[in-house]
Amino acid sequence: MAERGLSRRRFLGATAALGAVTFFSMTPVSRSIAAALSPTASSLLGFKAVPASTADTVVVPEGYQVERLISWGDPLFTDVAEFSNQLHKNTAANQKRQFGDNNDGMSLFPVDEQTAILAVNNEYTNYELMFEHQGKNMTAADVGYAQAAHGVSVITLAKAKEGWRFDKNGRFNRRIDANTAMRISGPAQGHALLQTNADPKGEAALGTFNNCANGMTPWGTYLTCEENFNGYFGSDAQVDMSPEFSRYGIAAEDAGYSWYKFDSRFDLAKEPNEPNRFGWVVEIDPHNPNSTPVKRTALGRFKHENAELVIAEDGRVVVYLGDDERGEHIYRFVSRNKYNPVDQAANRDLLDDGELFVAKFNEDGSGEWLSLTHGQNGLTAENGFASQADILIHARLAATQVGATTMDRPEWVAVHPHEPMVFCTLTNNKNRGLKDNQPVGGPNPRAENHYGQIVRWVPTAGQHTAKDFQWDLFLMAGNPDIHGGTPYAGSSNITTDNMFNSPDGIGFDQAGRLWIQSDGNYSNQGDFAGQGNNQMLCADPKTGEVRRFLTGPVACEITGLAFTPDQKTLFVGVQHPGEKLVASQFPFGGNSVPRSSVMVITREDGGVIGS
Ligand code: FEO
Ligand code: CA
Ligand code: CA
Repeated sequence: MAERGLSRRRFLGATAALGAVTFFSMTPVSRSIAAALSPTASSLLGFKAVPASTADTVVVPEGYQVERLISWGDPLFTDVAEFSNQLHKNTAANQKRQFGDNNDGMSLFPVDEQTAILAVNNEYTNYELMFEHQGKNMTAADVGYAQAAHGVSVITLAKAKEGWRFDKNGRFNRRIDANTAMRISGPAQGHALLQTNADPKGEAALGTFNNCANGMTPWGTYLTCEENFNGYFGSDAQVDMSPEFSRYGIAAEDAGYSWYKFDSRFDLAKEPNEPNRFGWVVEIDPHNPNSTPVKRTALGRFKHENAELVIAEDGRVVVYLGDDERGEHIYRFVSRNKYNPVDQAANRDLLDDGELFVAKFNEDGSGEWLSLTHGQNGLTAENGFASQADILIHARLAATQVGATTMDRPEWVAVHPHEPMVFCTLTNNKNRGLKDNQPVGGPNPRAENHYGQIVRWVPTAGQHTAKDFQWDLFLMAGNPDIHGGTPYAGSSNITTDNMFNSPDGIGFDQAGRLWIQSDGNYSNQGDFAGQGNNQMLCADPKTGEVRRFLTGPVACEITGLAFTPDQKTLFVGVQHPGEKLVASQFPFGGNSVPRSSVMVITREDGGVIGS
């Protein structure tokens, strides 16, 4: 990611872009930018839209081509066995050196003209596709195999005549899984709540899992975000759940992974602090396969979606963070020290020291960042926060204490490459309006919201370190064919031709196109009739125009995107095709097991993607 210094001129550009949006009292629908700006033909979007699809394949626009880069189970080294469709033949030992399952967020690190590194999250597993017994007769060996399929895959890419390809001989290839040694760093390092029998000092964790989305730093490191970590813990013993465990969804009952039955580290009765060592952002140096990943506790503990990093005008590092759960929050980290563009080693621990904030959105279109600092805003020992480490370990409870806005499941955050504009997907929230702490209003304007929306904010004076911001809704997803004339039709930039539900992954290319990926209901029925399989769209952030770019195979989610620096190759993730045994044979066809895969998209004429 290039440094994103924000000049005064750039800020004026952003306010001009928002000029048509007025923050006077509006209905939820008309608060959307799309209602204020009439979508017109856009110079940013240069491809022909693809229709909704229910086919078991990836469809891209005319003039584009899509190929498979790598799939779950592909060997990352020359001496490793291939994935077997005879599932009992797959082993933990092989999986530890094969591409992990359920690829999610990813970042590309250019090395030279012919070489690049792609760091890819491997979020979770689908036991119904992984085991012949479909998870019903788990063994210790099965749990070991599942643990090995989680984490991160770092892969070397080489530029061949036919384009960018995975290099099995590449020197950066590495697997990080649920048992890889990691360091715990920052203000919560060593805290009593992070101490376990295996690690009485509370500073050396094992592994990372449920790695959802991602981020990257300008000093060349990868950020992987631990999301639904709670589901891996449990116990067959009687365990009293603390309010803190309950807030994070930790429960004794098996959520389906069964790890605790075979690995005592995940048994709440035996290791009650182990869950506190997950739910963090982990920083990885992908250039050094021997480097130790670091859990950065200053960024708070919650169900992290992604980590969107931008260098503020004054040189401090700002990281925007979403907590993906109904009624949870959006956070911002601001480093104490400044980014040093000429001495990358000096930036190594920038993410250990800074201030964490949580967002409050007001009805009038204003908003503010509330500090999560010990001694401020009621974050005191009397209220249950004895130290800054307490606040970070239980960031959700601290956010409630300071009065943060409860959101419709914050997913990815993306910062515009040239304007101080920040976008966050709020994927859906069936509970909105039904729970006292989740009232309808502000950026969460629809009760029982099955479609989701994208909120946008502009920080005061264009400074990502500012205390305040102005917000609007960039779009509201919906179904105009089913719900015309109601807020569930979506904002006016949503039509029969581009409708979708549940925006999740988002990211900008260098030209400022906003790419939107969906993880929603793919039934193509009822509220979702006409929307087909999950998909990827492209939006012009200034006009509000939205155009469908890609459709995925059956029962998949589209998640993860990365561009090469020349913007002529786009990597896109297809996650869990055929989940829950919905019939899919993607990507290999025949009678093969469906496998999550990273795809490579190029233009037949070699041009810039999306233009
Ligand atoms: Fe892993 Fe919130 O998506
Ligand atoms: Ca996601
Ligand atoms: Ca999701």
